[in-house]
Amino acid sequence: MAENRILILDFGGQYNQLIARRVRECGVYSEVRGYEMMTLEDIRQFDPKGIIFTGGPQSAYGEGAPSIDKGVFDLGVPILGICYGAQLMAHMLGGEISSAPTSEYGRTEVTVTDKTGLLVGADDVNVCWMSHTDYISRPPEGFVITARTADCPVAGIENRERGFYAVQFHPEVNHTANGFAFLKRFVLEICGCAPDWHMESFARTQIEEIREKVGNGRVLLALSGGVDSSVVAALLAKAIGPQLTCVFVDHGLLRKDEAAQVASVFGEGGHFDLRFVMVDAAQRYYKKLAGVTEPEAKRKVIGEEFIRIFEEEAKKIGAVDYLAQGTIYPDLIESGLGSSAVIKSHHNVGGLPEHVEFREILEPLRMLFKDEVRQLGRELGLPEEIVSRQPFPGPGLGVRIIGEVTEEKVRVVQDADAIYREEIAVAGLAGSISQYFAALTNMQTVGVMGDFRTYDYAIALRAVITSDFMTAEAAEIPWDVLQRVMTRIVNEVDHVNRVFYDLTSKPPGTVEME
Ligand code: XMP
Repeated sequence: MAENRILILDFGGQYNQLIARRVRECGVYSEVRGYEMMTLEDIRQFDPKGIIFTGGPQSAYGEGAPSIDKGVFDLGVPILGICYGAQLMAHMLGGEISSAPTSEYGRTEVTVTDKTGLLVGADDVNVCWMSHTDYISRPPEGFVITARTADCPVAGIENRERGFYAVQFHPEVNHTANGFAFLKRFVLEICGCAPDWHMESFARTQIEEIREKVGNGRVLLALSGGVDSSVVAALLAKAIGPQLTCVFVDHGLLRKDEAAQVASVFGEGGHFDLRFVMVDAAQRYYKKLAGVTEPEAKRKVIGEEFIRIFEEEAKKIGAVDYLAQGTIYPDLIESGLGSSAVIKSHHNVGGLPEHVEFREILEPLRMLFKDEVRQLGRELGLPEEIVSRQPFPGPGLGVRIIGEVTEEKVRVVQDADAIYREEIAVAGLAGSISQYFAALTNMQTVGVMGDFRTYDYAIALRAVITSDFMTAEAAEIPWDVLQRVMTRIVNEVDHVNRVFYDLTSKPPGTVEME
């Protein structure tokens, strides 16, 4: 791993992943660690060039408040406290924290009074993102005040001699003007980190490590064709190619031409030297799904069938030493590696198979964020269609066809979706929409085509803007683009005579239909 490392001590804040991502955007490796897991010795072992204390929901002076060994202040390492982290730093060094007469939430004007330390380049009145009910009512000795707001007399403090910096606002969120510049200043200049974290060197060291670990062992990977498992396949192929078998199950619920695309990259004559097993399970799925209409029941059938097929294929291959998985860093953080609330447990198609013999799990992407995974994929020579692929649910089109799944409905939704994606790309909108797809509503309506009455399917178009997929808003797609998509779908896709645009945000909707 990189030599220059920033340790992010997680006190339970909402934006901790974002802090880690921002630091890595500076080209510096960072990790989020729960405060309760880190003794002073662990921190020394981590050998950080700088430490960031995150926000958190508690009061620094409260009983049992999240805290850290006071020896952290004697390590000679710069520390940046954010929100709760700022209050904790002030509290531990002898300052005073109180409940603020007025809480601050959201965009807040911060008057910057000292721009010589952390806040170089700040505006005189710098709009920042706040979220706090306590504040620093008296800074510790040796600190100067660098910023204030109308309701908060201490919005920033510093002890430059000792390398301690604290801000009440959140520099990591986009709403804070110059926030990224402040983090960059801390990481690159104050901590003196060299920007040595990039995917080219990550690929090189990972390939060496995987070779060393796997030796002559055999590795099995369930390849879904999504970004994460594709990048794992490419990485493992480069490291231990002929010892790797990728099993790709085409459940007949993939997007149009997707199976062929995956096969062309990973199969015979493709970019990599590995064993590629493609299982055409479409008919098997359509049979299993016949008559199943309840969303959870459909998901269950799809997930379980995937596991059964994977097990059957694994049995043919025989015992393997390692099972590889495309787990990425947000999956780990969200399953409670840090101390922020568990938001959702990681859901791949159905989880781990029970009857596959293997010694250990390999998760080479476990410390990477999504954008880093994509970058790594490019580094490894994966085509852009795979690297920039949008999230696609494990159950595939099964959750985009409302009600019963049939082969005909799959064909209808695949064709409509392909047109939608093509037009979004032509309009230059692909990069600005987080996820978009066509779904098939469970209704038929009356229409007229030529001089004839039709009674056909209605397609729903969905497009959302989101940063974390936990909440989302419908994207504002220009009317002319929607018109073009509608015209093409009703003209080119058999048995569709109506197109809807889904305006629903999440909540109350979800991104997928089921
Ligand atoms: P929802 O519909 O829950 O979707 O708002 C949020 C994000 O998760 C994706 N999604 C899934 N991904 N297996 C997955 O790997 C699943 O079962 C699954 N269900 C939803 C969805 O595409 C969106 O990006």
